[in-house]
Amino acid sequence: MTRSDSRADRTDGPDVPEPNPHATAEQVEAARHDTKLAQVLYHDWEAENYDEKWSISYDKRCVDYARDLFDATVPFSVQRQLPYEHALELGCGSGFFLLNLMQAGVARRGSVTDLSPGMVRVATRNGRNLGLDIDGRVADAERIPYDDNTFDLVVGHAVLHHIPDVELSLREVVRVLKPGGRFLFAGEPTNAGENYARPLSTLTWRVVTNVTRLPGLTGWRRPQAELDESSRAAALEAVVDLHTFSPGDLERMARNAGAVEVSTATTEFTAAMLGWPLRTFEAAVPPGRLGWGYAKFAFHSWIALSWVDNNLWRRVVPKSWFYNVMVTGVKPS
Ligand SMILES: C[S@@+](CC[C@H](N)C(=O)[O-])C[C@H]1O[C@@H](n2cnc3c(N)ncnc32)[C@H](O)[C@@H]1O
Repeated sequence: MTRSDSRADRTDGPDVPEPNPHATAEQVEAARHDTKLAQVLYHDWEAENYDEKWSISYDKRCVDYARDLFDATVPFSVQRQLPYEHALELGCGSGFFLLNLMQAGVARRGSVTDLSPGMVRVATRNGRNLGLDIDGRVADAERIPYDDNTFDLVVGHAVLHHIPDVELSLREVVRVLKPGGRFLFAGEPTNAGENYARPLSTLTWRVVTNVTRLPGLTGWRRPQAELDESSRAAALEAVVDLHTFSPGDLERMARNAGAVEVSTATTEFTAAMLGWPLRTFEAAVPPGRLGWGYAKFAFHSWIALSWVDNNLWRRVVPKSWFYNVMVTGVKPS
């Protein structure tokens, strides 16, 4: 079976779908019953500010972060044989994972894909600004528009939990990999992690948006129109976040999809309990209000807690209590 198609959905073609960053109330209503429309509206809305919202950069900080995720999951014998020749990213967003992995020496050439045209546009722009050898395409991870046996590596970060049929998507991943090729999906929420991260985030949003009504603190409040737009988009968040996983779920689905040498690893326990409220706080106040000192404090606190997670909590609590799970596997030769 082949899925290479002639649809004009490449970002460098003349008929690239236009992003729709300002969904109307009617479109949001329609998207409540259509998860893929919700993905496109929600992520087109986020695309141009995504890097700022999630503190994504393409310098040493995020290059090391992406490479650490790779090294934590992929066997050392593979790490010694890098780079892969051609890598595909599914649900690339602004390109955080593959562009930084390429800068870290993991792959020479990259194809970034996403369901959201706005995200593909930002990712290809970011890749070109970094001088990387990349192309971009709008693509659904359940129906990957590339031929069988095309890629040496397929990656994704924080994307599987958005896909309705994860096992179907993993079968597609195995199909487009060359025999012996590897996949790695990182940044997926665990069942346990979702129980503490989301409530902390919701609480932070409520506290910040109410406290900033108080006299003297209104300079910290975003304009009402922006908060309303955020709330409309946030209503879509419930529609786009479809799954959480246990490490065992992911391993089982990867094996059912035909992969071998499947394994999982987890990251972030107390670091996630800090990271989620901090990111929500940053999104709730006017952009640029927090400054460099805050950014340094947030980053170093997160690093410190990650160290505690890896060196203390990892020995004490079950793997499945951590917030992020990653899965890797190989297409049989
Ligand atoms: C949470 S964002 C993660 C973006 C990026 N990977 C990162 O880690 O910064 C999830 C991305 O997956 C995309 N997505 C959702 N469903 C998808 C699907 N079925 N096929 C391809 N991409 C999808 C969304 O448009 C969005 O850009």
